[in-house]
Order: sequence, then structure tokens, then C-alpha cells
Amino acid sequence: MSGVTVLFVDHTGVMGGAQHSLLDIAEANRERGAVALLEDGPFAAALEARGVRVLRLDGGTALRAVKKWSVLPRAGAIVAVARMARALARVARPYELLYANSPKSFLVAALAGRLARRPVVWHLRDILGEGHFSATNVRVVVAVANWCAVRVVANSAATADAFVAAGGEPELVTVVHNGIDAAPFDALPADTRAAVRAELGIAADAFVAGCFSRLHPWKGQAVLLDAVARMPGVHALLVGGALFSGEAPYEAELRARAAEPALAGRVHVLGARDDVPRLLAACDVVVHPSVLAEPFGRVLVEAMLAKRPVVATRAGGVPEVVTDGETGVLVPPGDARKLGEALDALRRDPAWGAALARHGSERARRRFSRTAMLAGVDRVIGEVAS
Ligand code: UDP
Ligand code: GLC
Repeated sequence: MSGVTVLFVDHTGVMGGAQHSLLDIAEANRERGAVALLEDGPFAAALEARGVRVLRLDGGTALRAVKKWSVLPRAGAIVAVARMARALARVARPYELLYANSPKSFLVAALAGRLARRPVVWHLRDILGEGHFSATNVRVVVAVANWCAVRVVANSAATADAFVAAGGEPELVTVVHNGIDAAPFDALPADTRAAVRAELGIAADAFVAGCFSRLHPWKGQAVLLDAVARMPGVHALLVGGALFSGEAPYEAELRARAAEPALAGRVHVLGARDDVPRLLAACDVVVHPSVLAEPFGRVLVEAMLAKRPVVATRAGGVPEVVTDGETGVLVPPGDARKLGEALDALRRDPAWGAALARHGSERARRRFSRTAMLAGVDRVIGEVAS
């Protein structure tokens, strides 16, 4: 590990996949770094529980004015970014490098980096475009990256390609796939599947398809419910909360659908949980039904570490993680019929599912280890420092 000191920056206090990933990175770098958060919340507590120093910057809630779909150059948004940048620049002085974990925190860090004369790395975890952001926001953030970032770390080749397609400088980009520690999956007792099913009131022989994503329409849980509605006896486990603004109405919609006669008693909406490895163990298959391009999808790796076959939509970074027919099944986004056919094929042929899961587990351990991710980030920090 190089000796350079790093201030990681994130805009949110809640735990999405980007924050789970930064949690591991910040913990590994806690001797030489800290995390500045533009908003307080459970993420700050999780970092501190792992011994990471957290700097809470006041006024982060004003940044909520900066929306993925707003026209960025609104007065309120510009003032909020400028204020936060000044506050960040003040606390950044003891650190040699700023490392931003989201588009919003990157905009703030880019300006703070100018003020404090510090280089800025952007860990890009979003597909810029394809329905995720407004065209104006993409133009602004890519222009700022070309102007201010010393490096853009992309969580998949698909994320990197979208950045370049939006006008981002190719030389800035390094791909570092997410990596996940296998230990919590390997430590589960052998009776976990039976114990979780008993807790949830699901019969031992029922076929269970689990989906582990926050409740946003683009994560596609509604498509899974469409597929399961046509498959009598099949259960769906929806794990994940409405984390970010605008997600609550979708949660209400899913809960209402779950209570409809075609699905009642077969859909288990569990909300946000912190025992994902044991819940994965209760599933026969893990479904990742995103209807927009998924930048990476940590849950795909987690499902493979839990030795579950995966059915996922073929878009974004997913094909880099799941190989169709080898470690899972890929289906077109938004196609409940094809998704249902894949689930049915796995239900009829458990031996095939077990083979996919075995290959997936091997591949996840080989290709998506936490150690490899940390080494990738460390390499970038070392190169930037030198
Ligand atoms: N997760 C969790 N509790 C939940 C649902 C999800 O801890 O109830 C975790 C999940 O295990 C994964 C992360 O949240 O590590 C989601 O990351 P992913 O990259 O799959 O999606 P994102 O939400 O970042 O788009
Ligand atoms: C973002 C993406 C997700 C990715 C995560 C970690 O939240 O939506 O696909 O796995 O970041 O990089």
C-alpha cells in the first residue's frame, strides 16, 4: 500500500451497493484515510463500527436539490454544491488525495479539489445515460470529469464504455470490478436454509426465487412478480428497502400486488435486511431483473458466493459478472415470459441449477474477490500519487 493519505467522499448516509463497496475500501485504508459524508445516517455508523474515521459535513441535505433528472444548472443546486465544496476543501487539507464515490460527491469533490489543490479520483458506479440520468446531468458531470479528475475508476467495462460514449476521456478510465468477501457466506451453519424457511413460513419443498435489490422501478421486481403470478406454487422473496427519494410509491405498489389473489401468500416482502447471506441460502434461485442496464450488481456475486443459480437480465455490466449457460441464465430486460421460462427450466432440473451454482461459486471466488478489488483501488491510488 502506498503512503499517500486519502479522503474518501460520499453524498449519502444510507447503504446502497456503492456504500457497501466503499465500506470495504475505506476499512482497508483506515490507517491512511477517512470518509467525508455530505449527509449523516446508517452509513456513517457502519463505517465507524469498522474503525473508519468519519467527517460529517453540515448542510448535505441541501444537496438533495441536485437530482438525477433535474436540469443541473439550477441556482439552488449550484449554491448547494459550492457550499459543500468549500466545507470539503477545509477538511481536505490534511489529505493528499480526494476519492469520490458517487456523481454528486464527485461534483463537490472536483470543486473542493480545485480550492484545496488536491487531485481527485472518481469511482464511477453508474451507467451514465440509458435512462438513468438526464442528458444535461450527464454532459455536466462528464465535462467536469474531463476537466478535473485525475482518474475515473469504473465498476465494470459497461460503466466505462458509457462514460466514454458520453464524451469522457478514455485515458482517464480504469476498470476495477467489485469484489466481495466470501467468509460470511462460508460461515453459515448447514441448517440455514431450513431455519430461514421456518422463520418465513415457507415449506421446505417450495420453489423460492429471491430478489435482493432496493425497491426502485428500474430494479425490476415488478417483472419478477409478473412471472411468478403465472407460476402456481412458486414463492418470491423480495429483500431490500426503499432507500432513496421517490422509491416509496413503488414499494407500496409492490406490496399491493403481493396481496392480489394471483400472488397472495407466495410473495414475501421483507424490506431492508442486514442478513443477506442467510436469506440467500433459503432461495432456490436468485433473480436480478433490472429493466435498465445494471452497472455491476453486487448481489450477483453474493448469489454466486451463496452457491445459488442466478437468472439476470442481459444489460450493462451483468454479462461481465454472469456467463449465460455457465454460471447463470441471462434473459432480456422487462420480459416476464422469458424470465418465467428460465425459472421453470431451473425448477424442473435442479441438477442443472446446482451445476450453474457450482461454477458461479468458483468464478466469484476467482474473479470477484474483495482482495482483488482492494488491490485494484490501491494500484490506482499509488499511480496517481506517483
Ligand atoms: N442489500 C442489503 N440489504 C438488503 C438488500 C440489499 O444489505 O435488504 C445489499 C446487497 O447485499 C448488496 C447491496 O445491498 O451488497 C446492493 O448492491 P448492488 O450493487 O446489487 O445494487 P445497488 O443498490 O448498488 O444498485
Ligand atoms: C451502484 C450500482 C451497482 C453496483 C454498485 C457498486 O450502486 O447501481 O450496480 O454494483 O454501485 O459498485
